[in-house]
Amino acid sequence: MNKKKIAVISDIHGNSMALTEVIRDIKNRDVDIIINLGDSLYGPLDLKGTFELLVNNNLINISGNQDRIILENLDQDSGSLTLEYVKSQLNDKMIDWLRHLPFDTIIDNEIYGCHATPQSDTNYLLEKLEKDHVAIKNKNEIDDLLKDIKQKIVICGHSHVANIVETDNKLIVNPGSVGLPAYDDEFPIYHTMQNYNPRANYSIINIVEDSISIDRVSLDYDFEESARLAETNKRHDWAKWIRTGIV
Ligand SMILES: [Fe+2]
Repeated sequence: MNKKKIAVISDIHGNSMALTEVIRDIKNRDVDIIINLGDSLYGPLDLKGTFELLVNNNLINISGNQDRIILENLDQDSGSLTLEYVKSQLNDKMIDWLRHLPFDTIIDNEIYGCHATPQSDTNYLLEKLEKDHVAIKNKNEIDDLLKDIKQKIVICGHSHVANIVETDNKLIVNPGSVGLPAYDDEFPIYHTMQNYNPRANYSIINIVEDSISIDRVSLDYDFEESARLAETNKRHDWAKWIRTGIV
């Protein structure tokens, strides 16, 4: 009988307090595997604690764009306060772990995972940026980005907003973000991503024969502690995003 239960997490961003709660919750749900879709160790937060949780809980991990950016700036001054803080927190074991993260992952013949899209770790798979809001792309556009993927279920992160989109060919699940419920970005145009709450998000995919169900989980945790750590590291914007889920 084809029966499996997969926990999908993404975009932890060094928030070990949120990750602790997510892993505790997952452990109560009898899952077969936990997949982490990247952006794990970038943020003004607890990178060592996050790393220890990831390596001690038997996860499948892939890289995110921000994990890649850390490696690209190891030997130069990035000029970024947060990136320099991140670098100051990394030990050799963590750097080695980052270097070995794959771009994407084929879980089996049913599930494929990537941080953003199969082609890029920075372009959104589901979301399109309009002048003053974020919308969901039409089905054909999404299917076109996934045309080389054989698996029916595609899991992706990067946007920090949980979504389930069913196209003609695929079922796409974005679990949202464990550690950062809001942010703004200048690339490729200024936009904001917001959950309007401070909770830690992830998803569980349940497959029983041909039936697929998805649990979207939204957990309370001690976000105040994470927000204070962001303030200690001079990121008052991150502190607000963590406390409120609003930019
Ligand atoms: Fe992210």
